[in-house]
Amino acid sequence: MRSNATATGYGATAISLHWIIALLIFAAFGLGLYMTGIPGLTPTKLKLFSWHKWLGVTVFMIAVLRVLWRATHAAPPVAPGTPAWQARAAAGAHHLLYVLIIVVPVTGYLYSLAAGVPVVYLGLWKMPVLIEANEELKAVFKVAHVALNYLMAGVVAVHAAAAIKHQVVDRDGTLGRMLPFLR
Ligand code: HEM
Ligand code: HEM
Repeated sequence: MRSNATATGYGATAISLHWIIALLIFAAFGLGLYMTGIPGLTPTKLKLFSWHKWLGVTVFMIAVLRVLWRATHAAPPVAPGTPAWQARAAAGAHHLLYVLIIVVPVTGYLYSLAAGVPVVYLGLWKMPVLIEANEELKAVFKVAHVALNYLMAGVVAVHAAAAIKHQVVDRDGTLGRMLPFLR
């Protein structure tokens, strides 16, 4: 397997993809909470829903590229002295995050279609209408979108806390693997 990683960290492509996706997800998540809290059906609310969908579709497209890139490029070796259970927990969390950055946008997309609202990416391109409007599916995808979002938020919180704990308490350079200026 190809790799641009070194013994102390990830390569530039993995790092760029990681932080671009993280920023877009934080933005989509915050916007999702904010827009759903706006009462009534105002023009602002509709505009924010569109922005939320565009952010989410962008996450999906970059996530597909990221998974393909990762499937063909090895990660840097686990830091020496890492307990086996921690290496397994980290790998498990990373796999789950790769699944969630694909599935969370997909449930949002299908929810929008089931609600009878096709997605027009950036207001320019009408995206495929994969399913017809359907009240039951609408309810299912809404619950799925919200629940998977909270699952992702939980996993990301533990993931970030673990990275910071390793960097600050154990001083083993884990955060530096994704933030080269800390190496
Ligand atoms: C990684 C990408 C995404 C994240 C992090 C995200 C996050 C969220 C969050 C936090 C909410 C508020 C949930 C709540 O009610 O508490 C939400 C709602 C919503 N999302 Fe997403 N979303 C993403 C992608 C998408 C995509 C791609 C679409 C559609 C194309 C979409 C459509 C919606 C819609 C329509 C709602 C409103 C649900 C309602 O009616 O209450 N989302 N999203
Ligand atoms: C939505 C937010 C995030 C997602 C989806 C995400 C996802 C991922 C994934 C999938 C990996 C594994 C990379 C691989 O081996 O292929 C990873 C690694 C990493 N992430 Fe995140 N991450 C997020 C946010 C954060 C934050 C906020 C921090 C730091 C505070 C962070 C720090 C790290 C570090 C240090 C690594 C390398 C871990 C190691 O070498 O074992 N991530 N992340």
